[in-house]
Amino acid sequence: MKGKILVTGGTGYIGSHTTVELINAGYEVISMDNLSNSNIEVLDGIEAITGIRPKFYEADCNDEAAVERIFSENPGIVGLIHFAASKAVGESVQKPLLYYRNNLLSLIVMLEAMERHGTKGIVFSSSCTVYGQPEVLPVTENAPVQEALSPYGNTKQINEEILRDAIYAGAPYKAIRLRYFNPIGAHSSALIGELPLGVPQNLIPYLTQTAAGIRQELSVFGDDYNTPDGSCIRDYINVVDLAKAHVIAIERILDEDKQSEPLETFNIGTGRGVSVLELINTFEQVTGVKVPHKIVGRREGDIEQVWANPKHANEVLGWEAKETLADTLKSAWAWQERITKKA
Ligand code: NAD
Ligand code: WQD
Repeated sequence: MKGKILVTGGTGYIGSHTTVELINAGYEVISMDNLSNSNIEVLDGIEAITGIRPKFYEADCNDEAAVERIFSENPGIVGLIHFAASKAVGESVQKPLLYYRNNLLSLIVMLEAMERHGTKGIVFSSSCTVYGQPEVLPVTENAPVQEALSPYGNTKQINEEILRDAIYAGAPYKAIRLRYFNPIGAHSSALIGELPLGVPQNLIPYLTQTAAGIRQELSVFGDDYNTPDGSCIRDYINVVDLAKAHVIAIERILDEDKQSEPLETFNIGTGRGVSVLELINTFEQVTGVKVPHKIVGRREGDIEQVWANPKHANEVLGWEAKETLADTLKSAWAWQERITKKA
């Protein structure tokens, strides 16, 4: 084994896919999650794919005693990947204090535990949301961080500053901040994917549930934007490509000869912008399944268009998105078909 990695939010959408890739890369994964937005059955999928069931703790990152117990019972945790957070933008507007408490305190508790136990570094789940509506596209890591449009987005910005200030104060660990664009799709096995908990706020789960007949019609939030077809543009990245970026990032932290700066930041995106209408059309073409949809008014807080310049990650991390949009949408549909059958 290459060493123990603690994955917080490990039964979540991106955490579960990253756990699979870490195991495939030869790491021992310690997984923790409070199951506030996932199910313990996700471990069955991870085990079915890899043949290994990661050691799991149902625990809250805000529970200092529980976190201390995890580190004490698992000496030699060399790296941490911090996915645990509340992530629903709309909910954050309704419940800002829940988001500030959960997303800020959990990071602080994990960083303090890392320092006590000599963990070498952390990979942090950040988001392109920190850029707001960039003035220049594609967006690079040097683009200005703009005033957050939601408490959720603000927690990501503040988390990035917490990491920066801890590192600059001489914290004995390294940090890599990965700014994800729009993760979509599922593992090719269709054994893990994005869990359908509640009414989906994100485009792809709502789209696949509409295609499956669970939702009556997909609402396209506006076609009057200043884009070629009037609908918003995003950088949709395959969740397995995203997971692989975390493995590369943690390996960079653990390799003494690699990470020169104690704090690094990377955009993790494909570098291609795709509109909502393009995405619907592509889904219909690759799956042969129609998606009933209608144009409605804009959704408050939506930015018009954003996609990554992934050059820094390509050149410095040696990472690039490899999966096509077509294959990614097929994986999303395969996952939807599987969970629809299981329901
Ligand atoms: P997710 O909700 O599927 O996963 C988060 C997991 O963390 C869940 O399993 C939840 O139960 C757990 N969790 C939440 N608070 C916790 C706590 N206090 N202690 C322990 N576990 C806790 O979300 P995801 O899409 O996998 O996102 C993972 C990370 O990536 C989040 O930090 C999110 O902000 C970030 N991110 C997600 C997206 C996206 O579109 N999915 C984009 C950019 C960034
Ligand atoms: C994508 C596009 C919508 C649903 C959010 C968070 C971001 C990150 C990723 C956590 C937009 C349109 C959507 C629908 C639609 N999450 N849409 N009908 O808003 O780009 O980013 O998730 O970090 O922080 O803000 O993703 O999937 O909600 O929307 O037309 O039913 O699809 O307007 O243009 P978004 P999304």
